[in-house]
Parts: sequence; C-alpha cells; structure tokens
Amino acid sequence: MAALGSGSADVGDRYRGLGRISRSEVVSGIPGGTRDHYGVPYSFTEEFVAVYRMHPLIRDTWHPRSATDDRTLRHCSLRDVWGPGALKVLESTGRADLLHSFGTLHPGLVTLHTFPGFLQEFERPDGHLQDLAVTDILRSREPGVPRCDEFRRRLLRPAAGFAELTDHPAWAEQIERLYDGDIEKVDLMVGLHAERPPAGFAFGDTAFRIFVPMASRRLNSDRFFTGHHTPEAYSGAGMARIDGNSMITELLRHHPELRPVLAGLTNAFGPWHTATGT
Ligand code: HEM
Repeated sequence: MAALGSGSADVGDRYRGLGRISRSEVVSGIPGGTRDHYGVPYSFTEEFVAVYRMHPLIRDTWHPRSATDDRTLRHCSLRDVWGPGALKVLESTGRADLLHSFGTLHPGLVTLHTFPGFLQEFERPDGHLQDLAVTDILRSREPGVPRCDEFRRRLLRPAAGFAELTDHPAWAEQIERLYDGDIEKVDLMVGLHAERPPAGFAFGDTAFRIFVPMASRRLNSDRFFTGHHTPEAYSGAGMARIDGNSMITELLRHHPELRPVLAGLTNAFGPWHTATGT
C-alpha cells in the first residue's frame, strides 16, 4: 500500500494515457482524474448530512413480489423488514424475487406529509422508541445548521415569504401558523421538504446545491477513483471488469432470470419492468 501511496501521479498518468481524452472532469468524468481534497481533509459537512436525511423515501408497506409472475408473496410492514425481521425475510424469500421487488416498488416522495408512520415510532436496537421525524429536525438544530431561510440566503436567496417556500398554499399557511409567522424560525428540514423539486428531480434546488458538490467531492477525494483508478492498483483484469460492467450486468451475472425485468434498461437504479411487463 505504501508503494501505491507514493507513486500515484505516475500511475494515474499512465492510465490517463490509455483511457482519458482530457484532464477535465466535465469531459472525462471524475474516475481516473487527479485526487483533490481542495485543501480540507475529507469529511461530510453538517449541511450535507442535513439535506441527506431523506427518510420519507422509506415506504411503510413492503410486499415482495415474484420475479417470475409478479405474484405478491407476502404483505409486510416496515417493522417486519427492519432489524432482525430483515433476516427472516432474507431467509424465506428468493433473492431474485427480492431484487425484483426492490427494483419495482417505488420509494416515498421526499416532501411534507409523507414521513413514514413506522419511522415515527422507530424501535431502536436498545428497545427505546424514537420519533425519527422529530429527531431529524433536532439533529440539524443541535450543531447549529442554519434554519431554512438563512440556509437559502447563504446559498442563493431567501424565500420572500411563506408562500414562496412551497407551491401548496395550504402548506404555506400551516407552516406560517406553526412558526408564529416568523419565517426565520422555519426549520431547514421543513423548508427543504416543502420546496417543489424542478421537473424530473427527486428533491428541491436548495438540497441539490449542497448535494452535487458533496457527491463529486466524495469521488475527488477517493484515491481508488482518481490516482489509483489504474491497472496497477486494480490489475488489468480488474480494470476491464470495471470498464466493461454495470449494475445491470452484475445483477444478470448472478441472476440471469432477471433478464426480462431488466431488458432495455440502461440504469439499474431507475424503475425496472415488472415480471408481467407493466
Ligand atoms: C428503514 C430505513 C431507515 C431507518 C430505520 C433509519 C434510521 C435512522 C436512525 C435511527 C438515525 C439516527 C437518528 C439520530 O441521530 O438519533 C438515522 C440517521 C440518518 N439517516 Fe436514516 N434510516 C433509514 C433510512 C435512511 C435513508 C433511506 C436515508 C437517505 C437516503 C437516511 C439518511 C440518514 C441520515 C443522513 C442520517 C443522519 C446521519 C448522521 O447524523 O450522521 N436514512 N437514520
């Protein structure tokens, strides 16, 4: 590992000579580029953690369905599938069926009034009940992450009034009532989830402006995506495997029976076809 650490620039350049047509991230992407910590040891900022608390994505109901004929195999609540319950589901459900279910069950919208009921009464491994909706708000307050309008002010511009926080007039009224008419008090989480996402996006612009630099930064700082994204670090076979595969080919290698539900897709992280073709 020491040898890898000291020779990164040369090794990286050699791979770039083979595989990268430009030093620009915009042209050639981050993998294979130069590692850069931008002068700050790699870390997640509190702002990133705050915008990434996307618990509304988690569904309250889960019904694993057959990868062969889309038949519902069982009806589960979130409580049935977390913690020790997850192991029981894993042991008693075929893996292809589970993968098919994860690829076709939609997540919740990251917006207000969709916080999963079961996460509001989440039983921690120590047996204590936790309301995660409340915790999400408190955890941003504790380290002093700015409230929503100050957060927006520092990024771009604050909302001019409650009506600008959301496209839903009823929500704007609720928020105004809840925060006694003081927009500066509105919690970040509430404002983020009230915001209408741009078309085709899963969350609003405020969260996106934090999300994008952190997502790239994670790769920029990782030597296995940058200076050591090389045949010397991964071996020639390793690089060929990385370059020639995707999540779809990995899934199909292990579960060729998933071919019909993945047919024609270019990204396994988008919705799959169901086994009955809908
Ligand atoms: C069944 C699914 C999930 C459960 C049971 C769960 C539970 C929890 C719990 C108990 C905490 C710690 C709360 C505390 O600070 O006391 C937490 C934190 C967090 N969760 Fe989740 N979570 C789930 C899914 C997710 C998902 C899907 C995301 C994002 C897409 C997410 C993002 C986060 C973040 C960013 C934190 C804060 C981490 C930190 O403080 O460093 N969680 N979650």
